[in-house]
Amino acid sequence: MKLMSLGNQPQSPSAIELLKTQHEEVKALFKRIEKASTRAAKTKLFDELAANLAAHDAIEREIFYPACEKAMGMTDLLGEALVEHGVVEFSLYQADRARKDKDFSFKCQVLSEIVEHHVKEEESDFFPKVQKALGKDKLQELGARMKARFEQAKSKDYHGALNSNLKQVLAGALKPSKRAPSSRKSTPAPAGKRRTAA
Ligand SMILES: [Fe+2]
Ligand SMILES: [Fe+2]
Repeated sequence: MKLMSLGNQPQSPSAIELLKTQHEEVKALFKRIEKASTRAAKTKLFDELAANLAAHDAIEREIFYPACEKAMGMTDLLGEALVEHGVVEFSLYQADRARKDKDFSFKCQVLSEIVEHHVKEEESDFFPKVQKALGKDKLQELGARMKARFEQAKSKDYHGALNSNLKQVLAGALKPSKRAPSSRKSTPAPAGKRRTAA
């Protein structure tokens, strides 16, 4: 007897359904941040956005992309997606550090545009190929694992994972490995005080 049965609703979404739903949630949060009238409201929404983005990044980097690479090899689309994750992480880091600054809105806007570009490529170019290569059953299995990992990652402070990934990306890694960050203070250099030419 299934106590939790909800009609014909599936137990968990497939990997692609899950990622698309999360993309919509992130897009909605960006809109809410843009419309929020006070700094406190913007910051509160940003906390939610950052936790969602970091957990989404974790399930793609740790589970989804490796499964795609196993089935399809390191394709151009996958390689570009991995590089873009580094760019999203860097942009998220910049916005996170600018919470109390005047340029917080600019940094949120750039983060939003980078995420939008990445999501568009994933959904229109990459996911259809993944759907064919992995098939329904594999995507269903991945979806369940990714959903569980998402909730776990979201419940933790994202700064440790973000800093660890960024350090590896800045050192040239395409695929940062999951490892315990040495310190919360081990922030990468470029987002600090150095100015870069436009
Ligand atoms: Fe992605
Ligand atoms: Fe994604």
